[in-house]
Amino acid sequence: MNTSGKVIKCKAAVLWGLKQPYSIEEVEVAPPKAHEVRIKILATSICRTDNNASTGAMPAKFPVIGGHEATGIVESIGEGVTTVKPGDKVIPLAVPQCGFCSACISPKSNFCEKIDITGKGVLSDGTSRFTCKGKPVYHFMNTSTFSEYTVVEEGAVVKIDASAPPEKVCLMGCAFSTGYGAAINTGKVTRGSTCAIFGLGGVGLSIIIGCKVAGASRIIGIDINPSKFERAKAVGATECINPKDYTKPINEVLKEITGDSVEFTFEATGNLDTMVDALASCHMNYGTSVVVGDPPASKMLTYDPLLVFTGRTWKGCIFGGWKTRNDLPKLVADYMAKKFDLDHLITHVLPFNKIRDGFDMLNKGERRRNVSSLYKSANLPELLLFAKYFSICVMHFIFLKSKVSQLH
Ligand code: APR
Ligand code: ZN
Ligand code: ZN
Repeated sequence: MNTSGKVIKCKAAVLWGLKQPYSIEEVEVAPPKAHEVRIKILATSICRTDNNASTGAMPAKFPVIGGHEATGIVESIGEGVTTVKPGDKVIPLAVPQCGFCSACISPKSNFCEKIDITGKGVLSDGTSRFTCKGKPVYHFMNTSTFSEYTVVEEGAVVKIDASAPPEKVCLMGCAFSTGYGAAINTGKVTRGSTCAIFGLGGVGLSIIIGCKVAGASRIIGIDINPSKFERAKAVGATECINPKDYTKPINEVLKEITGDSVEFTFEATGNLDTMVDALASCHMNYGTSVVVGDPPASKMLTYDPLLVFTGRTWKGCIFGGWKTRNDLPKLVADYMAKKFDLDHLITHVLPFNKIRDGFDMLNKGERRRNVSSLYKSANLPELLLFAKYFSICVMHFIFLKSKVSQLH
């Protein structure tokens, strides 16, 4: 059935307000206006930020359709769209690349000013393309992928290899790209170097994958939860340590075991103390430390300026520093060429209508940290293929493997 130009009724996960659970609703999705693209979502994953929309830690305009890590197929395009066409396989972009703002023009930056981190929840004409029960429902992070269909601006979508598996490469919409890019682009990890990664969740594992691809010869995983070590080693950590096993500060421990040669450290826990620990742990003169974990909102930290005065470099990045429209197709191509594997980051898949279960599990894990899950929308005929593919695990809840142990 040709749906182009028509309103599409479909299922979406709507947050009606703060502290409320995602609720599966029938929504209407308007056709794309000029320079917009309507996408049929094939697979999407749950990120902590989607949960933060309901807690208030991430601003959103309610009611809102969450979700920002996904793969889909272009259903129709608005007037003037030239870079994608119906039938293209795409990744929606929470960090857009509008091509016109100062960040997009500079080769040094990826922080496009079209990013919606303030929760305005509308497209560029100031309106939403979603309605439910007669009311407007707002967009989330330019993407709203918890819907069978969504509408995004052309700058917030990129075409990828048509043969890329949607249930894997959806992770490139946020988690994987963030960690992997932190190592490759921001840290610029060098061949033969020693790296230390603080926090071995999904982001930390993706950093390890980046360090390995960059040719680091020693990759030290650090976590207060030793059940994370096995997975970290599976993706490339050469050794793992638990700061709780030592009485000395972690920077001294690392200095001792490496003979003072940790060149690159990465913070992937989101704790202020760990950010300073990671800085202190890299070489005092030529070390680089990268902040990857989200700093807690409105919190300040104090640190000894001598740490940077001696020559260390302290950096951070958004979305791994990738210019999304330029770089994601290349990342997908690298995945297809088996440069790295995403399987270790996924443990379970669940159907779209179980999304609330996914968030329940995320929150259970979050008490000790968090859990992300990957689910797929399984109620459209075209998705039967995926249903079959996942038939072994479709009845199970699926989580980032690194995080599963936290639930037990
Ligand atoms: N020292 C070492 N490891 C720690 C510490 C600490 N002080 N505190 C927590 N951790 C570990 C946890 O045990 C957990 O394994 O950090 C890991 C964090 O993993 P997740 O909670 O799964 O988080 P993840 O999704 O990987 O994201 C990491 O990046 O995007 C941000 O908001 C995200 O700040 C978070 C960070
Ligand atoms: Zn821009
Ligand atoms: Zn995310």
